Amino acid sequence: MTDTAPPDQPAIRCRDVWQVFGTGAAKCLPDALDRAGGDVRQAAQILRDDGLVPAVQNVSFDVKRGELFVIMGLSGSGKSTILRCISRLIDVTAGQIEIDGEDILTASKARMTQLRRRKLGMVFQHFGLFPHMSVLQNVAFPLKMQRQGRAERLRRAQEVIDLVGLKGREGAYPRQLSGGQRQRVGIARSLAVNPDVWFLDEPFSALDPLIRRQLQDEFIDIQARLRKSIVFITHDIAEALKIADRIAIMRDGQIVQIGTPSQIVLEPADDYVRDFTRDVAKGRHARLSSVLRPVDPDAPPAPDDPGLTVDMTLDEALNACMLLYQPVPVRGRDGQIVGMIDPADLANALQVDP
Ligand SMILES: Nc1ncnc2c1ncn2[C@@H]1O[C@H](COP(=O)(O)OP(=O)(O)OP(=O)(O)O)[C@@H](O)[C@H]1O
Ligand SMILES: [Mg+2]
Repeated sequence: MTDTAPPDQPAIRCRDVWQVFGTGAAKCLPDALDRAGGDVRQAAQILRDDGLVPAVQNVSFDVKRGELFVIMGLSGSGKSTILRCISRLIDVTAGQIEIDGEDILTASKARMTQLRRRKLGMVFQHFGLFPHMSVLQNVAFPLKMQRQGRAERLRRAQEVIDLVGLKGREGAYPRQLSGGQRQRVGIARSLAVNPDVWFLDEPFSALDPLIRRQLQDEFIDIQARLRKSIVFITHDIAEALKIADRIAIMRDGQIVQIGTPSQIVLEPADDYVRDFTRDVAKGRHARLSSVLRPVDPDAPPAPDDPGLTVDMTLDEALNACMLLYQPVPVRGRDGQIVGMIDPADLANALQVDP
């Protein structure tokens, strides 16, 4: 992030991005779009019929500064491909991608190397650690690439090793670590350069559920302190709902919905999204802010005040006002009343889909 950037400029901006695999894709795409009269679905089918793979189709989204943006979808829906486009590990077939307002699709190779070393962090599920290097050496390695002095890079490496909870294991080699610990080394290594924009592709998916939950909690803590702009990929809806500020749901190369965890759970855009969230306990994930009503001046909240706040989950709120029958006030973080809620609305919002 530069100090001169406008405050509302997104960290990442993707517009109409296509990634079509196969020979002659760049030429076939405009033809297919033409023949389909601009219809994305139809164009994708034409490309498929021609033996090409339209892995990402006309995808647009913004990631705000300091936002944790999760991309979620079934295997093969194009999640990794879009991430590889944004980090320009592959060249897009069509579309625009900006990072902090900079068009990265026209950036030179040298500029991309510079961005990867200083501004972008990446963690991949199978991103190997160097087996012949200790934890400390692995984490300090990107700083060496930045030509930082030895003392400085070891100090910084130690700092991020502490941050991910590996203090005491600096001298260990990857083979002496568990899967979860190795994943932490990967995270520490990508954090060492203090990236502004952080890409993580299913970083926890190889781990067993308990360790995975623990790492998710730590990840939320780290993000609360560092406020990076993050694109995090997962195919686990529970993980997405737990960590995301906003979630994009991908299906067959397209984004079918972008929304907050509450919106995804309470207002799924279609049956595909609804299927993901069907087994999710809505009350645990949706927040009061999503069902809040403005204060009605003719029927202000009753005198009962169970102390509801916008950040509460629906379950917490229902617990607090289970025995009340009249609308009650809801307060913002500053204690001011920002709306009201009828306990009956809460019960309705928590109804399970038939
Ligand atoms: N280099 C490539 N050449 C041809 N097809 C590819 C290539 N890379 C990916 N694909 C195809 O593009 C589609 C999207 O793949 P992608 O790896 O983005 O899926 P994903 O959503 O990350 O899945 P997963 O959850 O399994 O990681 C798949 O159909 C895949 O087979
Ligand atoms: Mg993938």
